Amino acid sequence: SVYPNQQIASVTVAARIAHLIRTKHQKGETAVLGLATGVTPIAVYKELVRLHKEEGLSFKNVVTFNLDEYYPMKPDAMQSYVTFMNENLFNHIDIEKQNIHIPDGTLAMDDIASFCLDYERKITELGGLDLQILGIGRTGHIGFNEPGSAPNSGTRLVTLDDLTRRDASRDFGGKENVPTKAITMGIGTIFKAREIILMAWNKKKAPIIKKAVEGEISGDVPATYLQLSEHVEFVLDQDAASDL
Ligand code: GLP
Repeated sequence: SVYPNQQIASVTVAARIAHLIRTKHQKGETAVLGLATGVTPIAVYKELVRLHKEEGLSFKNVVTFNLDEYYPMKPDAMQSYVTFMNENLFNHIDIEKQNIHIPDGTLAMDDIASFCLDYERKITELGGLDLQILGIGRTGHIGFNEPGSAPNSGTRLVTLDDLTRRDASRDFGGKENVPTKAITMGIGTIFKAREIILMAWNKKKAPIIKKAVEGEISGDVPATYLQLSEHVEFVLDQDAASDL
């Protein structure tokens, strides 16, 4: 769907998340959300905070799994996705701390594989992700699944693309400070979500959105794999959709 601007689109996505949470709550069930970082979902989180503060939306029955984290990364670092999520969402809502999951950027190399398996197992044990929110990187990455990622990939340690590190350089005060690796949910992990919403705003994303939506399905642009799923919706503003 194409919306006139990102604010309207973000409020719509937030309303869908709120609806899911409330529906689950009525049934006495848990809502399992896959969350994303980056500039793109900020207005969605802002609206969720508003719904919590002004309209009584509770997150007590919500469990979250974030897509990714830089590696190595200390949770309390300014650029960590833990800090991002706390500042933009978790600090302002009533979610239980133990229900928040974000890949651990402090693990020893040797412990990463088992951590990743455990991350997958936790998602599965909760019945899978009800809804996964996605942004898209200019390399076509979703999460940090860079070009070359396999369609059935699981949570794992990956190497970041040069363009991705360049795009992140502002947050880190120079590309040389951007970690070279990350832990990310896989394409396969994302695909198992019952519903997937990929959001993109601004002209800067128009070329990669064109490739993702209309391009040949290929590991060169991991987001093209989303064409294979029937549970995916692209939520765009007019600028991001302008090359379609
Ligand atoms: C980062 C994140 C992705 C995000 C992408 C786009 O690399 N790991 O999950 O979708 O960048 O970021 P932004 O929304 O800031 O454009």
